[in-house]
Amino acid sequence: MATATYFACLLLISSTLMGFSFSVIQAQSRPPIVNGLSWTFYQTTCPQLEAIIRSELQQVFATNIGQAAGLLRLQFHDCFVQGCDGSILLERGSERTEIPNRTLRPEAFQILENLRQIVHAQCGLVVSCSDILTIAARDSVVLSGGPDYEVPLGRRDGVTFAPVNQTLIDLIPATANVSTIISQFSRKNLNVTDVVALSGAHTIGISSCSSFTNRLYPTIDPTMDPAFAASLMQICPSLDSTNVAVLDVRSPNTFDNQYYANLFSRQGLLNSDQNIRRDARTLGYVTRFFTNQTFFFRMFVDSMVKMGQVDVLTGTQGEIRANCFRRNSDNLDLLSVAKENLGSSSTMR
Ligand SMILES: *[C@@H]1O[C@H](CO)[C@@H](O)[C@H](O)[C@H]1NC(C)=O
Ligand SMILES: *[C@@H]1O[C@H](CO)[C@@H](O)[C@H](O)[C@H]1NC(C)=O
Ligand SMILES: *[C@@H]1O[C@H](CO)[C@@H](O)[C@H](O)[C@H]1NC(C)=O
Ligand SMILES: *[C@@H]1O[C@H](CO)[C@@H](O)[C@H](O)[C@H]1NC(C)=O
Ligand SMILES: *[C@@H]1O[C@H](CO)[C@@H](O)[C@H](O)[C@H]1NC(C)=O
Repeated sequence: MATATYFACLLLISSTLMGFSFSVIQAQSRPPIVNGLSWTFYQTTCPQLEAIIRSELQQVFATNIGQAAGLLRLQFHDCFVQGCDGSILLERGSERTEIPNRTLRPEAFQILENLRQIVHAQCGLVVSCSDILTIAARDSVVLSGGPDYEVPLGRRDGVTFAPVNQTLIDLIPATANVSTIISQFSRKNLNVTDVVALSGAHTIGISSCSSFTNRLYPTIDPTMDPAFAASLMQICPSLDSTNVAVLDVRSPNTFDNQYYANLFSRQGLLNSDQNIRRDARTLGYVTRFFTNQTFFFRMFVDSMVKMGQVDVLTGTQGEIRANCFRRNSDNLDLLSVAKENLGSSSTMR
């Protein structure tokens, strides 16, 4: 990462000097970033940050690649509710208690906090939980076979809990139609391209039966392939089954564009998935992502960087949490917590 950034800077400088149009290409290849975030934020305070997280997650995913989807999803939920401020991680926060367990994995929270311990042990209390989550979500994409990309950093962690029931307002139900999805995204300044690109995150991960059994019982949704429906009925024998199914039936653990192929063979799992193929506003991008994975990857990266900047706290706003699950003011003995973390050699499983 650091090397790539350095190289990009060199290119930028030399092209400016030589009058080439390189700088324009460089600028266009990276989406714009908000004031306060930077591509090199921890370059002096924690240069090994991204290497630490990448190597830890490699170990975690080696035993359970399913956690990659869990981390990616965690960032979506964090950013859509009260911005990318790590508030979803707060154990006393409404976000964490309101969001049904079926859509978030408890392990993902612990992986984040374990990463924080390792990072803070090496660099001190300088890296925010929201930045760690941002990097972890990126690495989940990369380590599942998706594109590698740089993320702007410098987020601060929120100190306010989201209002009660804010998750109901901000999160998109699995049953949502395209109009609802588009309007929910636009409230976060994300457009139709972002809707289709970010839906592609369903190329990995699982969903509980209760999120889609309304498409099976009492009658099969006519927009679903009957053979696919039959296989889902084996997994989810009843409306309230607590089992789970993979979101991308073609390549469940690989980050690729097969999610869009599923939509064309009517094998999208959720209503919100299948619907983007049926709506004229989104069909164009579904088709282009299906026919060109490079294009999907490029647009997905842009959309992720965009989403990762929704209502971020920067500068002196918020804080750097000494424990991702608690605001510093909630830590009765903050000093001893920090000390304990610095002294321990954390391992992750
Ligand atoms: C959600 O997960 C927490 C922690 O794993 C558990 O204590 C709680 O009972 C779960 N709630 C539901 C509704 O499954
Ligand atoms: C939150 O939503 C639940 C379920 O719809 C409702 O019963 C409850 O009254 C709401 N609470 C507030 C404070 O709005
Ligand atoms: C989409 O869903 C919303 C909320 O359920 C509903 O109000 C709206 O009428 C639906 N729009 C279409 C085009 O079906
Ligand atoms: C959405 O925004 C991106 C820039 O963030 C832009 O490239 C794209 O064309 C926009 N899509 C639509 C449908 O306006
Ligand atoms: C696929 O998309 C990439 C990135 O936008 C583009 O450079 C390439 O020309 C596209 N390939 C085809 C066959 O359209």
